[in-house]
Amino acid sequence: MHKTVATTAEFLHTWDSRINFLMADECVPFSFEFPPIEQIVERLVAEQNTTGIEGQLRNTGDRGNTMEQFRGMSFTDLMETSFQLRYPDVTLLDRPGDLFAGFTEQVLVPWKRYLLDHGFEWDRCYALARVSGPNTCTGYHMDRSNVLFWNVRGHKVFHGFREPDRWVPLTRANDEREAQIMPAHMSSQDVLSYEVGDNTLLWNHLLTPHWVDSPELAFGINFSHGGLRHNGRLCRYEQHLYNTLGRNPNENWLPETASAVFQKGL
Ligand SMILES: [Fe+2]
Repeated sequence: MHKTVATTAEFLHTWDSRINFLMADECVPFSFEFPPIEQIVERLVAEQNTTGIEGQLRNTGDRGNTMEQFRGMSFTDLMETSFQLRYPDVTLLDRPGDLFAGFTEQVLVPWKRYLLDHGFEWDRCYALARVSGPNTCTGYHMDRSNVLFWNVRGHKVFHGFREPDRWVPLTRANDEREAQIMPAHMSSQDVLSYEVGDNTLLWNHLLTPHWVDSPELAFGINFSHGGLRHNGRLCRYEQHLYNTLGRNPNENWLPETASAVFQKGL
């Protein structure tokens, strides 16, 4: 059931399925030397754009911003709390001497080129950063985007279902966050968990339920893709979303990150 996709041919075949998979080799056309995690934490906790999440939110879906309680805390003090930090756009700290200097050129551009070269287009694609303190977890939720999850440092466990459609069929694809509640009657046999270590990448399909445990301090990047289409075709669930809403929900959402804009800049 666990799968690693290491060739582009397989990725083109698998990107619109339902079971999460790891990505490797030619599907990861980038690398980056990040600063030490302590430096990342100290910088992000001081950044105005960072939002905070309290650690143990299994049943609440990551709602609310608790950043104020973490502001001004040292790295050592933070490690005594259940803290998670979310930074919305890595490129804002891509400046000479800053935390993510060179990220656009070394990571985002090669990734977008890779997608374009193999027939993909998108309405929005950007990278956000996330720090998870020790013994924290995310809520159970579904994302309205296809996400390339890059665990840069630390150990996490990424949970999903072996049969996602059994738990969240197409008809429930548009559930609001409040309605996304972890099913009470499920067993370990129903869950598909990936143990992820340093520099591990995982493809999380749009609108599949998932939750992530972080037993230790971890840092990672999430690439969010909205309106991703291959040879003009959206994945099945996103097409359903468009049909149900009667419009493109990505249209006015960070249009400057669309493939059409990226292509003009090449
Ligand atoms: Fe998610």
